[in-house]
Amino acid sequence: MTDKVQELVSKCLQARDMAYCPYSRFPVGAAILTADGAIITGCNVENASYGLTVCAERTAIQRAVVEGHRQFTAIAVTCDIKDSFVGPCGACRQVLMEFGPNWTVYLTKPDGSYKETSLSELLPLAFSPVHLAKD
Ligand code: THU
Repeated sequence: MTDKVQELVSKCLQARDMAYCPYSRFPVGAAILTADGAIITGCNVENASYGLTVCAERTAIQRAVVEGHRQFTAIAVTCDIKDSFVGPCGACRQVLMEFGPNWTVYLTKPDGSYKETSLSELLPLAFSPVHLAKD
């Protein structure tokens, strides 16, 4: 594991500890690696009006964009499930795809072990901004 991946994985685990999830009690953490080497984290933020909950991945991407980042190389995501690697929800896959198909995705267990995959593998045949391009 490279130092940067190790850092990304460890930051997503730390972000999970910040989750605000009083309703589901299902904490999720995410950490995004930007093209220039910054790491931006997110956790899920729930709401009493349940449908307003924001997932960890989307919290992270919104923070990243507001901090001026639009090019991303990887994301690590984690939750409390110990016995399997868990992927981002479909909505979050689409939101990540907005910023390109070439993300590495590290599905991370609570012990820090991870499975490496990619966004294009998680969301094949995706609809994306290229389909809106007019010539
Ligand atoms: N959740 C995420 O943060 N990311 C996902 O990709 C899946 C689900 C959150 C939303 C909610 O707070 C809790 O997990 C249970 O669905």
